[in-house]
Amino acid sequence: MEVIKIYAEEIVKQANNALTFDMVIKLIEKPKFSEQGDLAFPCFTLAKKVRKSPSAIAEELANKIQHTLFERVVANGPYVNCFLNVKEVSRNVLQTILSQGSDYGSHNIGNGGNITIDFSSPNIAKPFSMGHLRSTVIGNSLANIVAKCGYHAIRINHLGDWGTQFGKLIVAYKLWGDEETVRNNPIAELLQLYVRFHSEAENNPELEDEARMWFKKLEDGDKEAHRLWSWFRKESLKEFSAIYSLLDVEFDSYNGEAFYNDKMEATIELLSKANLLSDSDGAEVVDLSDKDLPPCLIKKSDGATLYATRDITAAIYRQDNYTFKKALYIVGHEQSLHFKQIFLVLEKMGFEWTNEMVHVPFGFILKNGKKMSTRKGKIVLLEEVIKEAIDLAKQNIEAKNPTLPNKDEIAKEVGVGSIIFHDLKSERLNNIEFSLDEMLQFEGATGPYIQYTHARACSILRKAGRDEILNTDGLNDIQSWSVIKILIEFPNVIKKAFEQFEPSQIAKYLIDLSQEFNKYYSRVKLVAEDGDKLNRLALVKSVTTVIKEGLRLLGIKAPEEM
Ligand code: ARG
Repeated sequence: MEVIKIYAEEIVKQANNALTFDMVIKLIEKPKFSEQGDLAFPCFTLAKKVRKSPSAIAEELANKIQHTLFERVVANGPYVNCFLNVKEVSRNVLQTILSQGSDYGSHNIGNGGNITIDFSSPNIAKPFSMGHLRSTVIGNSLANIVAKCGYHAIRINHLGDWGTQFGKLIVAYKLWGDEETVRNNPIAELLQLYVRFHSEAENNPELEDEARMWFKKLEDGDKEAHRLWSWFRKESLKEFSAIYSLLDVEFDSYNGEAFYNDKMEATIELLSKANLLSDSDGAEVVDLSDKDLPPCLIKKSDGATLYATRDITAAIYRQDNYTFKKALYIVGHEQSLHFKQIFLVLEKMGFEWTNEMVHVPFGFILKNGKKMSTRKGKIVLLEEVIKEAIDLAKQNIEAKNPTLPNKDEIAKEVGVGSIIFHDLKSERLNNIEFSLDEMLQFEGATGPYIQYTHARACSILRKAGRDEILNTDGLNDIQSWSVIKILIEFPNVIKKAFEQFEPSQIAKYLIDLSQEFNKYYSRVKLVAEDGDKLNRLALVKSVTTVIKEGLRLLGIKAPEEM
């Protein structure tokens, strides 16, 4: 049990339940200076409640609170400050980590309820962009985090497998395409066709009409259109699967936009019954001017449905099928307006679960300060990038540890880990600069640095012949305490990562923990033959457990040797 919770419980008890546990835990802070103690409780709110002066209350509480985990509790003006009993607390935490293993830091906030996570969702016949990479990495981590918090994560890949781009592709393919070439190199070739369509359409606007017509045919179930569409889809999915297997990401559902084709009529009927549809130049829209938003387009004048129609339908389908407690959409911030609109439409339709739908936006990946784009063919093929990272990781490992067994497997874990960590270490709304050289460094705030710290700790245990330390009676020295203090924080960090949908909380935490552990390692003789050797090894073991679990939550492997 976390010390902060114990402190909060003691306060609630000694204050005769004048404040609730939740209120107290929110109020507890860290004193400004460590000389003032480890935890501080400000008495202002409580004082108001019981109509006494804050310092009088602080005095009273300080005299009453006693616990084996607290060395002493003192009043400091309006604060009740707690000095932890270092030996007892460290024994308690290390013992908890040793016995819970990878379960340490779990919560039961979710009670097994479902959370749908809509992430990755690349577009068929287009390359997997840097934005999709971010969505994949952030979404995968959030799925792990919500599961750690007691929810059941449902991972949905809302493939962009429908829409007007298929009209364009069909036209381009019929004009300039060739079956053999597409088969050999689907994404590159389809992209080529797509780019050519756009450049030719600049001089020949009729192509756009043609494309609209083909998309309409596709929506109406035309045989030829459908055959081409399903072929493009199949070939693209093969390429995406290769990326997912490199990244080690899996989905529960690949129900993309096309899945909702036969379900949209029902949505439009609901909208119409609720009197929400109005006409705008022959198109059907939901007016959102009461919330100062542009109207949400539901059906075009030619009868074709839109991205928004499919998202509204998908939300209803997901609630019917999964009765989600929350529905997360991990999509770049450039789609904020879209999500505001569809959430508002759903709210107007009277679905009260709309409150639980969350757009989780993120920033761009930049290369030399510029957005990496797919439109004009200036694209980077992601699979190549990942493979390059793995190659570079392999060279590093080769140089550092030439005799390491299964180098290829570890190079994959390090190369892929470096890309993921680089993404997740900054708050998701920040733009991030893509630099393979930087992310693959073994020093600094990088994935390989954290993995290396973990491997180093594992090797200490291996060399001491003590992989299976199961017991400890705690440690008393300041050096150990500075690491243990961080270990205590882990459950809380996970909770924050969940509440803010922010994996960077965990990534930053792992950087702190690794830095502190490496300091410890360089200052303290861990395997010195004194009375505390096994306790220090228990600490080392706990560090490996927490780093490994933290990395797992980010979607990164923790090799034991590298
Ligand atoms: N395929 C879309 C794109 O690449 C992202 C889909 C996000 N998910 C959703 N339910 N709208 O822009």
